[in-house]
Amino acid sequence: MDVDKVKVGLIGSGNISYTYLNTLTQFSIIEMVGCSDLIPEKSKARAETFGIRQMTTDEILADPEIEIVVNTTELFNHNKVTRMALEAGKHVYSEKAMGDNYEGAKANYDLAAEKGLRIGSAPDIYMGAAYQTARKLIDEGMIGTPLLAYALCFRSYPFHAMPFEFPKAFGQRGSSITYDMSGYYINAMVALLGPVQRASGYSRFFEDRVYTNTGHPRYGQKIDKLSGETVMMGNLEFECGCYGSLAMCSEGFSPEIPRVEILGTEGTLTLPDPNYFGGWGNDVYITRVGNPGEKFKVPFTHGFSDMDPEIPTKTGKREPCHNSWRGIAVVDMAWAIRRGRPHRSSAELALHTVEILNAIDNSDATNRVYSIETRPQRPAPLKPGFFGHPTVMEASIDL
Ligand SMILES: NC(=O)c1ccc[n+]([C@@H]2O[C@H](COP(=O)([O-])OP(=O)(O)OC[C@H]3O[C@@H](n4cnc5c(N)ncnc54)[C@H](O)[C@@H]3O)[C@@H](O)[C@H]2O)c1
Repeated sequence: MDVDKVKVGLIGSGNISYTYLNTLTQFSIIEMVGCSDLIPEKSKARAETFGIRQMTTDEILADPEIEIVVNTTELFNHNKVTRMALEAGKHVYSEKAMGDNYEGAKANYDLAAEKGLRIGSAPDIYMGAAYQTARKLIDEGMIGTPLLAYALCFRSYPFHAMPFEFPKAFGQRGSSITYDMSGYYINAMVALLGPVQRASGYSRFFEDRVYTNTGHPRYGQKIDKLSGETVMMGNLEFECGCYGSLAMCSEGFSPEIPRVEILGTEGTLTLPDPNYFGGWGNDVYITRVGNPGEKFKVPFTHGFSDMDPEIPTKTGKREPCHNSWRGIAVVDMAWAIRRGRPHRSSAELALHTVEILNAIDNSDATNRVYSIETRPQRPAPLKPGFFGHPTVMEASIDL
């Protein structure tokens, strides 16, 4: 390859770092240097699994050859770790959300602009097979003019086996499903329809809920109100004229019911969970004018679909999202740095999501509809028809 590899360091060797390292070690533009964690055993384990260096966070920040820092720390550490990396002169790609409050995220956005550094943020699921197929269908006019978009995520946190207490400082008014999941849906809809210009909403904590999973350490106890809003409804007005709704609930009866639909003058797209790249039940369907009663499954036009979830992992145990391509936006950022072009998961896109969430949160208290200042471009589509080996799919990002 005639292009120098981009050296990358990862900070935060927890659950999701497996997936990132698994992705980033497969693409030609990236040289994964090392990973750190406050708990050295965690970074040691990841370093051994992926044949990279176990480093401290200070070593990553001080290494002059590392150009991109991947921030996979917990949400409440995103702003802090991103700031440290920017101050050390690194480009940063952060797990979602970009920050746990708009002010901190905006301060990092401004710092990056001042220093000529790049920020990117998860989710990058819109680069996957399902949402790229949807993008192609929309851009080629298959649903006509998009008029309405709605997103639903109905989860059951009381039933989940995780100790789901979020940091209370998240956002201006709590956390919970609003910040944990809404970002996937906002990001996916903005990638398809462009930016949101106004947002409002309602959100509340659903009282009297107890942990219902007998395996949960807090089984039978009431859920802490400080964990944040558990029911949220957001209203979005996209700049393109389409209206959107965002219904998020963590108090459902089911592990998860996800849904995104985009309704246009000539057709409707029914899209899979934007937490997955596509395949294994996460398919794209279209209903067309002239055949309004029938949904047709659309074969994927793009690579980067999910892999068989039963494929064994490198650690021999199940890892979160291990069958996905989370991290391909870092690959895109690396190519963008070398080519001197914009990267797809832009700082504007990352901040846009946080600004919208903040507006919905505030709207409930103030009864106001908020004008959204950030106006990200839709990320450039990937090339269709590139399937299979990572080397082939990598070309679809950069060509
Ligand atoms: N777990 C999942 O399934 C999943 C899926 C998608 C996205 N995410 C997102 O990824 C992020 C991380 O989630 P996770 O589940 O991997 O969390 P985690 O708690 O397993 O890992 C975070 C790690 O960051 C480390 N850390 C914090 N500050 C640090 C610092 N200054 N230097 C070095 N290490 C530091 C912590 O010690 C911890 O090990 C969150 O934003 C989460 O929303 C998680």
